[in-house]
Amino acid sequence: MIYYFSGTGNSEWVAKEIAKNIDDIAINIIDIIKSEKDNITITKNDSIGLVFPIYAWAVPEVVKIFIEKVKVEDGAFSYAICTCVEEAGLALKKLSKYIKLNSSYSIFMPNNYIIGSDVDTNEVANKKIQEAKKQIENISLEIKSKKSNYQVSNGKMPFIKSNLIAPAFNKYARDIKPFWVEDTCIGCGLCERNCPTDCISLKDNKPIWNGKCYQCLSCINRCPEQAIQYGNKTKNRSRYYFK
Ligand SMILES: Cc1cc2nc3c(=O)[nH]c(=O)nc-3n(C[C@H](O)[C@H](O)[C@H](O)COP(=O)(O)O)c2cc1C
Repeated sequence: MIYYFSGTGNSEWVAKEIAKNIDDIAINIIDIIKSEKDNITITKNDSIGLVFPIYAWAVPEVVKIFIEKVKVEDGAFSYAICTCVEEAGLALKKLSKYIKLNSSYSIFMPNNYIIGSDVDTNEVANKKIQEAKKQIENISLEIKSKKSNYQVSNGKMPFIKSNLIAPAFNKYARDIKPFWVEDTCIGCGLCERNCPTDCISLKDNKPIWNGKCYQCLSCINRCPEQAIQYGNKTKNRSRYYFK
């Protein structure tokens, strides 16, 4: 089984492509969490894959919550694939302290973190997706043959980024207060329906944020009117989600 988390579709696409190639099933972690299923045991002849984006050189909190439910028995094959713009830091090495990982991979995908910088150009985004397709083929073959591998782009100064910046991101940067909506909002409710933590609701036909946010940026990137903003950082930036 492949379990994935995805805000803007990159990791969902990777998970589903791998599932197709290895004849497996891809399931959204959010559906498992909402179903309140408590225990998932991966028995010795079985395999488990985790696919998710990198957030601030770390594994998203929701993936950590999910793996607390998972028990991997000796002999089972387990792997993690993260999607990122270019640097995963030590995220996967740290994850392997909580769940046994035979293999870890990172795949470069288009940028969705428009709070930090603008989206990739079409040329860069398309090139990444073409490269990712080839990498997915290779990774699928390795998973099928249960080959162990560590093929992760740690990036520069990964120790500092994953050990110091990542905790600070989770503590301070996932603030919902800077979200606001322009008058161009048409009240379609897509942001509310897509929010993995159900922290968006509509009031007077406009979204309001209340509660826990993973900062997956699904709301802001998928808004059909580009009406959602985050402070003053996103006004002049484009939007991205996997199409
Ligand atoms: C909050 C946040 C933090 C991010 N941090 C990183 C990072 O540390 N390194 C990186 O290469 N990409 C980073 N990204 C980019 C995403 O990992 C990348 O675009 C990913 O493929 C998005 O996956 P998704 O479409 O499945 O949500 C970040 C994105 C978000 C939303």
